[in-house]
Formats: sequence, C-alpha cells, structure tokens
Amino acid sequence: MQRSNLYTFGFAFAVTLFCSVGLALAATNLKPAQQISARLDVIKNILSVAGYDDAETNQTAATDPKAVIDLFEKDFNARVVDKNNQEVSIDAIKTELQKLGYKPEELDQKQAFEIVEIFSAKIGLLAAKAGVKKDEYDPGYSLLFLHQPGGQAEIAAYIVPVEGFGLWDMIYGYIALQPDLITVKDIRFYKHQETPGLGGEISTPVFTDQFPGKKILAEDGTYTSIGVVKGKVSDVHPDQPEHYVDGISGGTITGRGVTDFLYEDLKRYNVYFQTIRENTGDVSAKSDNQAPELLSARGEL
Ligand SMILES: Cc1cc2nc3c(=O)[nH]c(=O)nc-3n(C[C@H](O)[C@H](O)[C@H](O)COP(=O)(O)O)c2cc1C
Repeated sequence: MQRSNLYTFGFAFAVTLFCSVGLALAATNLKPAQQISARLDVIKNILSVAGYDDAETNQTAATDPKAVIDLFEKDFNARVVDKNNQEVSIDAIKTELQKLGYKPEELDQKQAFEIVEIFSAKIGLLAAKAGVKKDEYDPGYSLLFLHQPGGQAEIAAYIVPVEGFGLWDMIYGYIALQPDLITVKDIRFYKHQETPGLGGEISTPVFTDQFPGKKILAEDGTYTSIGVVKGKVSDVHPDQPEHYVDGISGGTITGRGVTDFLYEDLKRYNVYFQTIRENTGDVSAKSDNQAPELLSARGEL
C-alpha cells in the first residue's frame, strides 16, 4: 500500500519525538545515580589511601552506598586553603556560588569536594560577574582532607589530591601524610591512561608500597618532595633513600611526570603545613621551598 509523504514525515517525526523524550527522561532520572557514583569514586579513593580495606569498602558501596558516604562524613573533614595559605570556609564558597543562581539547599546536599569542583569550573563566570580577569579573581583553592576517625579531634592523616601529566594523559591520585606532615603514610593513583605493565604500574602495590615512610622534608626542614628515579634508589641516591622511590622499567617518562607533579602539588601546601608543624611542636621544619641539592638531582632523572 502506497503511503502519502505526509504520513511518512509524520511517522518519522513521531518516532524522533518518542526517542528524544525517552532519552531526556532517562538522562534526568539517571543523573542522581551518576552523581552518587561519582561521589563514591572520590570517597573510595580517599578511604583507600587512609588505610581502609578496599574489598570491604567496595562491598559496602555495592550494597549500601549511603553507609560509605556516612563513614566518610564521620571520619573525614575537608579543608580549603587559598593561594595566600589561608583557610577558607566551605560556606564562603557556597555564598559565592549563590551569585550564579545555585540554591543554598542544593549546595547543602553536596560534599565539600564537589563544591570546590563546581567553583573551579565556574571561575570564569564568577570573574566576569565580579568584572575582573579570571587570574585576578582566582583564589587558587587547594583542597585537603583531615582523617579524624570517629570525629575525634586527633588527626590521623592529612590527605592531599595530586595530579599531573604522565606519558599519555593526566594521572590523578591522593597522597596521605602522617600527622607530622613530613612522613608519607600512603599514596594511590586511581585514574590514568599509562600503559599497563609499563607506566601503568604506578597504580600497583609494587610501586605504591615504596612510599610509606618516605619524607617530604630534608632533615634540616627544607622541602624536598619524593622523586622517582630511573633505576634503583640504592644505585642512584644511596645516601637519600628517604626522598626517592625506584622507577619502573619502561616507565621512565611516567615516573618523571609523577616526580614533577608530586613536587609541585605538595609544595602548594607547604607554607600552610609549616604553620601546622610549628603549632604542633615540630619547629625544625623550614618554610622555604628550596632544596638545591635535591632540585639538581631532580634534573638528572
Ligand atoms: C606502546 C608503548 C607504550 C609505552 N608506554 C609507556 C608508559 O606508559 N610510560 C612510560 O614512561 N613509557 C612508556 N613507553 C616507553 C617510552 O616510550 C620510553 O621508551 C620509556 O619511557 C623509556 O623508559 P626506560 O628508559 O625505562 O626504558 C611506551 C612505549 C611503547 C612503545
């Protein structure tokens, strides 16, 4: 049977409309689940670097995601530090975001790390609204997490996000420092595109297990960070094993990237950390950010 052109176009229009509405509804309905999943990803990585059992966390996350979020909220506190090394309240950041139309009740549903993420994505808009250039406006927020198990005052670890380029793409991770803010507690690299078996080994225990106990300050208090050497620390820096880890065979470029972004990212917090070190009694540390002998060593890597 021959159909008219009007019928064919009408039919195509109806199918397109049906599919569009279906997709729009699916996207809207799945959004909260996607947000929870993204939130859980961040939380699981922070729990992992703080020493919580990965298998247990994953199992709980699969059956009762809210329990994992509740645990995180009970045991961790987020802090934001600006480029002048001053702490900034999350409420102040929320107030700023309200200028873009975000509702207070909507922002109150979010974790501190999500608020900072939204803020970072909206800096251009906020700067335009304030009538200043983006660089001028950017407060340079850095996020960190205090691990305070059970909500106790005592801090078990400070956790800092670290990120930068490897060989192929960005590498994302977290490093946990002991309360002395000098000794590494642990490290995780949770997202990267490095080649499995080569640079990709950074996310395996063979690489990360070398970090606990390493020092980000030299004995005289100067900032050093941790470097990934090409080869073995025992051959390259036998005199300073506390500041270096062994490189990955066939992963030298990835290792160089890790060295560079650990250095830059930890340095951003060093002045803020120094005030805490002084307040908690470890006054041996210096606030300057240079360790000439180690910087030159970094160039050799
Ligand atoms: C397919 C392919 C994938 C590679 N992936 C990585 C990588 O993820 N990270 C890295 O540092 N080097 C990688 N390399 C090796 C680099 O090209 C380079 O040879 C290496 O970093 C040098 O390390 P080595 O001195 O330890 O051999 C890859 C090479 C090939 C051919």
